[in-house]
Amino acid sequence: MDLTEQQVAQFHDEGYLFLPELFTPEEVAVLRTEAEGIYAQQRPEIWREKSGAPRTAFAAHLYNEGFRLLAAHPRMIRPIEQLFGEQVYMHQFKINAKSAFSGEVWQWHQDYGTWARDDGMPEPRAMNIAVFLDEVMPINGPLMLVPRSHTHGTLDARHDLETTSYPLWTLDEETVTKLVEKGGIVSPVGKPGGLLMFHGNLVHGSAGNITPYPRKIVYLTLNAVSNYIRKPTRPEFIAHTDFTPIEPVADDALIRYATSYRAAAE
Ligand code: SIN
Ligand code: MN
Repeated sequence: MDLTEQQVAQFHDEGYLFLPELFTPEEVAVLRTEAEGIYAQQRPEIWREKSGAPRTAFAAHLYNEGFRLLAAHPRMIRPIEQLFGEQVYMHQFKINAKSAFSGEVWQWHQDYGTWARDDGMPEPRAMNIAVFLDEVMPINGPLMLVPRSHTHGTLDARHDLETTSYPLWTLDEETVTKLVEKGGIVSPVGKPGGLLMFHGNLVHGSAGNITPYPRKIVYLTLNAVSNYIRKPTRPEFIAHTDFTPIEPVADDALIRYATSYRAAAE
């Protein structure tokens, strides 16, 4: 699948591109079930909110077949190769829960700030991808983006170790206010299967979820192979050091997996 010229231009201008329902409800339903099973496990890759509810599960593509297939899916990999003009590898893979009633905030931040400071990534040539596993609604803590904020480079940030269970390089209110005056805030919403890609320097965050509706999203970071990280400081399951280019699976790989999964369950 190729992006159109207009989609490429939108990505460069606005810093993000939303492809609603890129995956079918059937392809994603299995992954939603699998994610719940993963959160129920006790593993070091699974981080919990201060309440104990799951916050994020790292690296499930390395131990779960459904997420392995998603992580190498051509509908996602090919457009990113097109944008970067080279192959990509998986820098980070996580399934964020934003659990019903207890999912906590992600403070305003840029991801490249963390990749540069903590991982030694040379350039913001890694793409952030969000794949919706649940319906993302205006009310259940959707991701909020500040359009065009990626054009300001990497901004000063503070390492926040207190607000949530997850350390994050966060932006101050004055910086966010100025950027929002120029670009506003958007929060793409929609059915399970939607895919949102956004620039590593795009400012983003999300509010807590106090609704009964969970908001599970898979976040993948696909890094251009030549931009591999030079100074890793974080655990391997958070910032990968296997720089092998991803070879995409077949386009029907997920649907075949879903069919065999259902057959096995019957
Ligand atoms: C992130 O920025 O890495 C996650 C944000 C979210 O899950 O809302
Ligand atoms: Mn982020």
